[in-house]
Amino acid sequence: MRKPIIAGNWKMYKTLTEAIELVNGLKRNLYDIIEADIVVCPSFVALDSVSEILIESNIDCGAQDVYWEKEGAYTGEVSAVMLKDIGCKYAIIGHSERRQYFNETNDTVNKKVKAALAAGLTPIVCVGETLTEREASKTFEVIKDHIQNGLSGITKEDILKIVVAYEPVWAIGTGKTATPGEAQEVHAFIRKLLADLWGKEAADSIRIQYGGSVKPDNAASLMAQEDIDGALVGGASLKVDSFTEIVKKSVGRQSCTHL
Ligand code: PGA
Repeated sequence: MRKPIIAGNWKMYKTLTEAIELVNGLKRNLYDIIEADIVVCPSFVALDSVSEILIESNIDCGAQDVYWEKEGAYTGEVSAVMLKDIGCKYAIIGHSERRQYFNETNDTVNKKVKAALAAGLTPIVCVGETLTEREASKTFEVIKDHIQNGLSGITKEDILKIVVAYEPVWAIGTGKTATPGEAQEVHAFIRKLLADLWGKEAADSIRIQYGGSVKPDNAASLMAQEDIDGALVGGASLKVDSFTEIVKKSVGRQSCTHL
């Protein structure tokens, strides 16, 4: 049985004060959720404070990126060791926005995944096709390339520590969600691919999140799909009430938000 994992990717939103307000609200609303792992990924500047607030709570903290070297003259970068040190548990790696705007490639994803694992962080590895690729019927080809090359050289033991996030680029921030059926089709493909590469037993225990315009009103139907084990939420994770509702609906709880 795979435990659902719902993560909020706050992207480049929220000042420190706003981040603290958001995380305190989530802590208040979600304190009794034990059916899912809950993660928030603030910007680097808010990570330490948010992580401190989340000590001994049921919510974990994640970074939105990580650099692969442990330390050194790499101006502007943050290492996995540094993230681990401030209580971070997860790191999003290979998000499509990083692939699109910051030259992230499968090769850099691979180095980052290995560095994250070595430091004891759980990588949330993003894969997904653009609209042009989908329209050219290249979805499976692209996903295969992202998985095979982004995760190349990962051992059978380490692959179990990874979370995969399927995020069709055309659904990110656009309000266009993949239908539960469309998402399930790709998730099943990813699981089969993981089974081919690391064995069925490993593939059956790896969690695969869906991301791309997840909202309170579509979370439950996406989560009901056999191979969808969670959500990576962008826009709707920026408000206490919508992220609360997404988490509650994802685990089949009645939503009653007290703000
Ligand atoms: P969205 O973003 O929920 O705003 O579409 C998802 C993501 O980029 O992780």
